[in-house]
Amino acid sequence: MSEPHGEPILEVTDLVKHFPLTQGILFKRNIGAVKAVDGVSLSLYPGETLGIVGESGCGKSTVAKLLMNLESPTSGTIRYKGEDISRLSGRALKAVRRNIQMVFQDPYTSLNPRMTVGDIIGEPFEIHPDVAPKGSRRARVRELLDVVGLNPEYINRYPHQFSGGQRQRIGIARGLALNPEIIVADEPVSALDVSVQAQVINLMERLQNEFGLSYMFIAHDLSIVRHISDRVGVMYLGRVVEIGSDEEIYRFPTHPYTQALLSAVPVPDPVASSRRERIILAGDVPSPANPPSGCHFRTRCWKAQQKCADVDPPLVVPGHLLAEGPPVAHPSACHFAATKPEVRAD
Ligand SMILES: Nc1ncnc2c1ncn2[C@@H]1O[C@H](COP(=O)(O)OP(=O)(O)OP(=O)(O)O)[C@@H](O)[C@H]1O
Ligand SMILES: [Mg+2]
Repeated sequence: MSEPHGEPILEVTDLVKHFPLTQGILFKRNIGAVKAVDGVSLSLYPGETLGIVGESGCGKSTVAKLLMNLESPTSGTIRYKGEDISRLSGRALKAVRRNIQMVFQDPYTSLNPRMTVGDIIGEPFEIHPDVAPKGSRRARVRELLDVVGLNPEYINRYPHQFSGGQRQRIGIARGLALNPEIIVADEPVSALDVSVQAQVINLMERLQNEFGLSYMFIAHDLSIVRHISDRVGVMYLGRVVEIGSDEEIYRFPTHPYTQALLSAVPVPDPVASSRRERIILAGDVPSPANPPSGCHFRTRCWKAQQKCADVDPPLVVPGHLLAEGPPVAHPSACHFAATKPEVRAD
């Protein structure tokens, strides 16, 4: 799938999550807020993989937790098939939860070491007993082990008896237990060896085709999401700064931050690599407790002008790019979005 079609299965609008910053132990005083997510809008379409990339601390995991209802938003909406699910509770929440599952980053810490693999994968059935009646659960867990490429005979083993890649397969099997429609995978391969990363990504692709899953696939490296993503959203300091199809993002990045990220991606071809200019960004990512006014990226941007401090650039197709047509004309939150490819990662 390359272009999104139909109605989004998940639609996030102006999502904000501020964590209060407090001082004092006995008498807590509010001294500001960490703006972890600061106005994120994006859509996930049925059957697609949306990659989300950005540096550490830009808010990727917080977006994932908001989608999973593990955190509640300060403002904004999360619509699942048109219904706002961000403030649901009780039975309504449980019903939605079943359809949106998460795969976590670190398979070494996310699996309870005292539980057998069978109990870990079967745990969701305790909360949703209707999905697999008690008598059929072991058989269902064996089936899930087989689906993710693990020997069903391992059902009584413990997590420490498995390698990192196998543990992530267990995490994926648990994510699949309730037959979800959406999987939010928060850096599912970041903790794995490079040689194992490809195996897990291939497995996820196969499962997507087999079960018609929609993925939100979070990573901090553009090269990891490239292979699996139909579309990619780039985050910086709590916001999505550019979003588009993989061709739009990798061949025609228009936002300076995306260009900088891409220029750091290793290129296999040494000739192409030597022709490429590497963009080294000045300074560090500012604190999300005190982001710059206007465009959050402007303090590190070589194109920044007064307008960037005064006016927040919205995530829309910039007017001056409309004439260029696809694939250049895609949403990019930059007043001075590039009109011609300045960096290409091919
Ligand atoms: N519960 C919390 N309380 C206070 N601040 C938080 C909390 N959770 C996250 N933050 C802050 O919000 C910001 C975004 O964090 P988040 O974990 O979403 O980033 P991330 O993009 O997932 O980073 P990484 O790539 O390191 O996983 C960070 O500054 C983080 O310190
Ligand atoms: Mg994270």
